[in-house]
Amino acid sequence: MARDDHRRPLKKSGAEQDGGRASRVLTGKQFFVATVSKGCEAALAEELASFGLSVPQIGAGAVRIEGELEAGYRACLWSRLASRILLEVGSFPARSTDALYDGIKQIDWLAHLDPEGTWAVDFVGQSEAMRDSRFGSMRVKDAIVDQMRERCGLRPSVDLKTPDLRINVHLTGGEATVAIDLSGAPLHRRGGGRDGGPAPLKETLAAAILWMAGWPEAAAQGLPLVDPMCGSGTFLIEAAGMAKNIAHGLKRKRWGFQRWRGHDVALWKYLYGEAREAVLDDVPLVFGSDRDPKQIQRTLDNAARSGLEDLIRVHVCELEDAQPPAGQAGIVVTNPPYGERLMADETEVFALYREIGDVLKRRYLGWTGWILAGSPKLGRQFGLKPKRKIALWNGAIDCRLVMLPISDGGVARDKSSED
Ligand SMILES: C[S@@+](CC[C@H](N)C(=O)[O-])C[C@H]1O[C@@H](n2cnc3c(N)ncnc32)[C@H](O)[C@@H]1O
Repeated sequence: MARDDHRRPLKKSGAEQDGGRASRVLTGKQFFVATVSKGCEAALAEELASFGLSVPQIGAGAVRIEGELEAGYRACLWSRLASRILLEVGSFPARSTDALYDGIKQIDWLAHLDPEGTWAVDFVGQSEAMRDSRFGSMRVKDAIVDQMRERCGLRPSVDLKTPDLRINVHLTGGEATVAIDLSGAPLHRRGGGRDGGPAPLKETLAAAILWMAGWPEAAAQGLPLVDPMCGSGTFLIEAAGMAKNIAHGLKRKRWGFQRWRGHDVALWKYLYGEAREAVLDDVPLVFGSDRDPKQIQRTLDNAARSGLEDLIRVHVCELEDAQPPAGQAGIVVTNPPYGERLMADETEVFALYREIGDVLKRRYLGWTGWILAGSPKLGRQFGLKPKRKIALWNGAIDCRLVMLPISDGGVARDKSSED
């Protein structure tokens, strides 16, 4: 992603006079980067825009947000799709390790980090001069420690696990972008915790799929959602949270910005209170089933942890026996086994994908299926004509999200050869 050069000059401030201990709230326009699974960038941009945020740029695996600190906090609190929210604090050409050192030293670290605090660096990317990210991250550390020592005679210490400040340096095309990680632990780790079972989907990816499937609008119309291979219940829990308009961050205890010196406590409290008021009542139920009783128990436990058990109905059931709930047609969303992790035999996996198509065709007329197929090839095994195929990455796995509208016209054999 091309970035504006908005390197901030080193500000002379009162911080040196008090040994750098004063805390400072950040004001004015900022740029933030929201990172996301590959293939979900456009969906994330739409989600952020739905919060009223300005999204001037969409890149690979990330989108850029422009706005005051409130925009970054809103993204942290509300975005179910983003993995991290980073506040950019500098960008500069870094074709050599010395240029990296100099650029890092130009940033006013006392504005961000208590000189007696703890910190860690996430160094991402490489260049001709810096092939090893460990070397890049060492130069970053040298520059920050040297600046702190020169300015107030103190040096913060490194804590890789729970630092006060996590600094993100992204090196690409000879340009370094430096950011404060406002999220801390990645945002797919929702507050309540969960037992994921053998092959859980990341919450952020599940939320992105639900977004692409149009679930927020469908839920607002009172339509139901079904996952007939629900595993530990990730789709169901994200779907129920979205339907209730619950900001996922309400359950999170720790954030990357809590011990950042620019943190605006009053602003965060205001946004948090606003989010608590926004929770909706009277939303549709979501339904799940799985052949494995242990998975169903996991879903129940996870739903209870997230406080959404009243909205989720699950039972043990083979896919071939799955029935839609009575009432209106809605959305079927699922991620069947890929073969890699849960099933050894390819023909067995193909047969399962064909069975998904058959079950949809026979019982879910009027519904729309959104199936995350574990490869382009698996995405062609449903025996149904897909309306859309979206390339998505589940970690390192090249998946296809296949949209299967089940109407009389939608049950034609899939003759498409596209991925
Ligand atoms: C990849 S996992 C789903 C993971 C889930 N999305 C999560 O986040 O935990 C696939 C699930 O399909 C279930 N499954 C496989 N074959 C099935 C069948 N024929 N009928 C019902 N469930 C089946 C497995 O028990 C497993 O829980």
